[in-house]
Amino acid sequence: MEDRLRLRKYVLVWLLIVLHSCYFASCGNATVDPKNSRVWGPGVEMPDRATLPARYFFIEPRDADNQKINESQKYDIHIIGQSRFGSCRYRLNQIDRHDGSSIVRYRLAESCSDVTIHVRHNEAHLTGSPFAIPGTLYSEQCYCPQGSVEEWLETVGCPAGDPQIDMDLIPFRAINFSSLRTRMIQQYDKPGSISHCNYVILRNQVHRRCYGQHTGFSKFMDTILLSLARKFTLPDMEMFVNLGDWPLVKKGGPSRTTGPYPIFSWCGSDDTFDIVMPTYDITESTLENMGRVMLDMLSVQRRGLPWADKHAKAFWRGRDARRERLELVALSRRYPELLNASLTNFFFFRDEESEFGPRVAHISMHEFFDYRYQVNVDGTVAAYRLPYLLAGSSVVLKQDSFYYEHFYRKLVPMRHYIPFEADLSNLVQQIEWARENDEKAREIRDNANAFINANLLPLDIYCYHALLFKEYAKYIVSPIQVLPGMEKIEQPEETYHCPCERTTLPRDEL
Ligand SMILES: *[C@@H]1O[C@H](CO)[C@@H](O)[C@H](O)[C@H]1NC(C)=O
Ligand SMILES: *[C@@H]1O[C@H](CO)[C@@H](O)[C@H](O)[C@H]1NC(C)=O
Ligand SMILES: *[C@@H]1O[C@H](CO)[C@@H](O)[C@H](O)[C@H]1NC(C)=O
Ligand SMILES: *[C@@H]1O[C@H](CO)[C@@H](O)[C@H](O)[C@H]1NC(C)=O
Repeated sequence: MEDRLRLRKYVLVWLLIVLHSCYFASCGNATVDPKNSRVWGPGVEMPDRATLPARYFFIEPRDADNQKINESQKYDIHIIGQSRFGSCRYRLNQIDRHDGSSIVRYRLAESCSDVTIHVRHNEAHLTGSPFAIPGTLYSEQCYCPQGSVEEWLETVGCPAGDPQIDMDLIPFRAINFSSLRTRMIQQYDKPGSISHCNYVILRNQVHRRCYGQHTGFSKFMDTILLSLARKFTLPDMEMFVNLGDWPLVKKGGPSRTTGPYPIFSWCGSDDTFDIVMPTYDITESTLENMGRVMLDMLSVQRRGLPWADKHAKAFWRGRDARRERLELVALSRRYPELLNASLTNFFFFRDEESEFGPRVAHISMHEFFDYRYQVNVDGTVAAYRLPYLLAGSSVVLKQDSFYYEHFYRKLVPMRHYIPFEADLSNLVQQIEWARENDEKAREIRDNANAFINANLLPLDIYCYHALLFKEYAKYIVSPIQVLPGMEKIEQPEETYHCPCERTTLPRDEL
């Protein structure tokens, strides 16, 4: 009896070994060739120059024929280096994407030097590994500004321009706050409905004064400005930041004599002049990558159900921020085989809960991607979830809208998403199109994913802010000075506790 059990165990172990070596060695075609596989991204190419809260890079496995491998792989990754406290300490995670490639990201506990990054598969180094990094990798928490914004943009290889920035700044060629400031403060003195802050950046220090009742969102602006100031010297500038959802500066408004007012907002619209910045949502997920936030542009790319196993239906969850969202629910009742849409919260249309309810439990966005088609409908303004949907493993159907975020201008309908009318009139037709054109729909999904990885990852969000502020600051003609009543926003205490090799601070005129 016992012998038989032992024999069975032997057979089992032997089988496992065979299967295992088969999987990792030469059975089938999916054998990773370390020489052909690619490793790239700011986290291995310039982690010393691109200081990020979490640094990241990509791995694309390829076989001996240099063909991409679309099965998940596990990599063995180590960062070896020295810190003030001994060996370099870090947290690392691997995000297995849905196409076989992986994103690797790591967050340093403190600055490290003499760093090598080892990327192995099955004991073998992949091309380029170990990556030897010449400079120091600063912790993102260190106040180590290195050079001007121009120098920083160039060292980390940010794009030289952006069509949205060019467009937004056209009306503002000579900004004179000496004549605008008082008028702007008066114009937007509607404390119950408008909250905004007047910022002054001088010698890389941040000062502000806020107006209105709900100024809590100024923390998002403070945080990104302080984070940029730790990396390079911000240009001296003065600015007004709208803390609300709606853009403020209406075209054809009271701007005859002064020209439009220069105001920064997180959402733009076709009928306003507001200068758009990346939303506080995507900015926070950049700053808190591998920290507080669970969902960000990297983690959302985690492998979910393969395309073939996803429900061939459209999916939507959200709150009742706009009438069309209720109509979406009604549509889903009429076409349950095409669309699964429910509200998770009633606030604006509470009296219609009996008709459009019941509300359903909130689910994580990762579960959205169990469905092939994702619907994006405006909320109070643009739905800030669009970047996450575009990064996921489903294809996006986007409502036409005059609201936009900083990157919409670069999106192309039918290349990056499937468009539908603002009134939802052709949504059903577009879902049917996607079902009938499965290959094309998948291709649009792939294009959207590539767009995200080229335009909306954490470094891109820093680049956009840096480029925007650099361009904007050029057009201010009034003197930059800290104004009465402004509060200085301090860097967190710990930022000054790290040594920097090369810090160039603006020269103090003595
Ligand atoms: C895949 O492997 C099989 C057998 O292992 C072989 O017959 C076939 O030619 C390979 N195909 C490619 C594309 O390498
Ligand atoms: C992976 O690639 C193989 C060979 O090119 C293909 O047959 C298969 O459908 C692909 N699988 C997925 C999930 O894309
Ligand atoms: C800015 O406006 C103030 C007040 O109207 C004016 O005195 C000053 O000359 C203007 N500055 C420039 C550079 O136009
Ligand atoms: C809609 O989606 C939810 C979440 O995946 C699921 O539990 C529910 O059964 C779906 N409803 C229909 C009608 O398919």
